[in-house]
Amino acid sequence: MKVPQFKSYVDKTDYAHLEAVFENNYIAEGPFAREFSDKLLEIIGSPYGVFASNGTVALYLAMRALELGPGDDVFVQNSTFIASANGVEMAGANPVFVDVVRYDDLSIDLNKVHLTDKSKAMVIAPLFGTAYSNIAEVQQFCRDNNLFLIEDAAQALAITDGVNHCGTFGDVATFSFYADKTITTAEGGYVVTRHEDVYERMRFLRNQGRKQSGTFLHPEIGYNFRITDMQAALGLSQLKKLDTIKREKAKIYDLYYKHLGGHVEFLRLADGFNHIPFRVVVFVDSAEKSAQYMAEKEIEPRSVFYPLHRQPCYQHLGYGDESFEQSIACYEKGICLPTWIGLTEEHIEHVSNALLESIS
Ligand SMILES: Cc1ncc(COP(=O)(O)O)c(C=O)c1O
Repeated sequence: MKVPQFKSYVDKTDYAHLEAVFENNYIAEGPFAREFSDKLLEIIGSPYGVFASNGTVALYLAMRALELGPGDDVFVQNSTFIASANGVEMAGANPVFVDVVRYDDLSIDLNKVHLTDKSKAMVIAPLFGTAYSNIAEVQQFCRDNNLFLIEDAAQALAITDGVNHCGTFGDVATFSFYADKTITTAEGGYVVTRHEDVYERMRFLRNQGRKQSGTFLHPEIGYNFRITDMQAALGLSQLKKLDTIKREKAKIYDLYYKHLGGHVEFLRLADGFNHIPFRVVVFVDSAEKSAQYMAEKEIEPRSVFYPLHRQPCYQHLGYGDESFEQSIACYEKGICLPTWIGLTEEHIEHVSNALLESIS
């Protein structure tokens, strides 16, 4: 039985929304984008937001809007997708990697943050559909040390502590709508902020460094980070399915727990936050060996993120393994199990049995 790592949750109802874009005959960023943005702001509970072409560019836009650049150090949690660091690097600032609290809790470890007079910001990423175990401390730390707090909330749409949505804890936050995210627009990103001046700057930068489209005067170099109304229509359709997505993902998690609970460790879920599993993450002695065994059974497992300090593309920063013990352990032990909507109980049993056999 083949089990791929992910499949997008798109269907005929999404297709019907796309048809409406053609009927409108407005295919670039337009009315559907405005409606999608309004709905996102309502869900996230943020006053301001702009789209970006994807979650990576959204991070770059966030850095530029905060005027982070050459000479600035930005702390980044060491276990996260590479884009969290690349957004910093794209803006010309210097990513500074910080270990996570524990291999099964990917919150940034404040005890391992070394401040200098170059330290300007911190990027944290709530991953795998859960959130942070230490957000109040992180907020306080950033306030005390005059650091901007940026949330890479690519995987955290609809994750809240009941009052506050991920993406509203800091100064700026970014979301991704890539094909495997909680809702998808195929590609797409969104940036929210609580600061009006940062919002105005994002609008300016994403619009070729000008205040108004249709004029050709550009006080600063900016870029085109627009999305299309086809993406926005897809996003609106996906939002209508958000409750179903939450329910179906919860069922998948419960089924994995039924088969694997007590046998392997699961990623810790942050206290007080809801959970919409982006991937179900479990920990075994050797993720590599288990993944190999599962691959032989036509299952496509995936590792957890390779620690940023070890990334070949960041070797010039000169990090060694010391002080990254937890992110290394997370990589060596962690396995992302397929978590896409449409998985049947048979699929989940098959994946779980293969995992159990691999460790027996
Ligand atoms: C944590 C995190 N940050 C950033 C991104 C980048 O988003 P995108 O693929 O839309 O550029 C992703 C996407 O996988 C992600 O998981």
